Amino acid sequence: MTIMNGALQGLAHDYASVLRAYLTDEDETCLHRMYELGRRALNAECGILQMAELHQKALSVVLRQVTAEDRERVLRLGQTLFLEVLSPFEMSQRQCRDASVALRCLNETLEAEVHRIALALHDEAAQLLVSVDLAVDEVAFGLPAHVRDRLEKIRAPLRQCASELRRLSHELRPPVLDDLGLMPALEFLADGVSNRIGIPIAVSGSTEGRPPGAVEVAVYRIVQEALSNVAKHAHASKVVVEVRQSESVLHCTVRDNGTGFDVAALGAKRAQRGLGLIAIRERIDALGGTHRLVTAPGEGTELLLSVPLGGTDGDSRSAR
Ligand SMILES: Nc1ncnc2c1ncn2[C@@H]1O[C@H](COP(=O)(O)OP(=O)(O)O)[C@@H](O)[C@H]1O
Ligand SMILES: [Mg+2]
Repeated sequence: MTIMNGALQGLAHDYASVLRAYLTDEDETCLHRMYELGRRALNAECGILQMAELHQKALSVVLRQVTAEDRERVLRLGQTLFLEVLSPFEMSQRQCRDASVALRCLNETLEAEVHRIALALHDEAAQLLVSVDLAVDEVAFGLPAHVRDRLEKIRAPLRQCASELRRLSHELRPPVLDDLGLMPALEFLADGVSNRIGIPIAVSGSTEGRPPGAVEVAVYRIVQEALSNVAKHAHASKVVVEVRQSESVLHCTVRDNGTGFDVAALGAKRAQRGLGLIAIRERIDALGGTHRLVTAPGEGTELLLSVPLGGTDGDSRSAR
């Protein structure tokens, strides 16, 4: 708020001056000036409540100076100007809604693309390495022992590479998520991340049967992002993933004992905002759920999700 004070004062001054000009001669250009003022306010990240306050202050000054007969006219013209100053906000809200729909479509496209890449890694790249391994084995057959030993040195990393690719493809889009459901998939994911970063990740809890497919995929992706954040930023020594279902709401928590961070400071540094937390919010919004980040520097990070299970479309497998 303090950063905004200078900009707000300028806006308040201009608002009052446009209002006075409009009340004097009802000149149409004042409407345009008010619209531009709205755009400036939007760019300065003013909110609608601040605009309402601005309007209220400017209008009350004018109302103190007019006669009782003129009051109604002042209120009417003031309202016209207020609507004008708010119209950039209205437009931006509409654009936000459109962007949100576009983001959801993009999410679905990405999900399909990830599926395709996971299959390609698994069925093509990893299988190709297996055939190379077999071919090397064939070539080795009948060769002197010391040459076979050298070829064996090639086969070991080849096999390791094939198994890494398989592991990666399963993590990208684990068949276990489709086949066995959320809990086994989270355990598989946690296992992989835990091995990579070398700290324990405990997964506990359960769901009552299989949640809808869209919920399973979203929760899996969110936990995946949360664990990737732990790996990248937290310097934690312990992570816990808990799942719980109460009536028709699925709750999931990812908690680490790492560095934590200042969420408010993150929001202020626009250029440094990552996409991970935004994507988490987007996925939760799409399911009509809620989420909360409990964290502070030095106090670890806890991400809490709640997703209603009734609200998503009934065909649980279609979203996969
Ligand atoms: N578990 C965590 N521990 C510490 N810091 C975190 C954690 N999760 C997120 N952060 C902080 O929040 C920021 C934004 O996260 P995110 O949106 O996922 O973007 P990115 O991971 O690409 O930086 C990170 O850069 C980091 O500073
Ligand atoms: Mg991230």
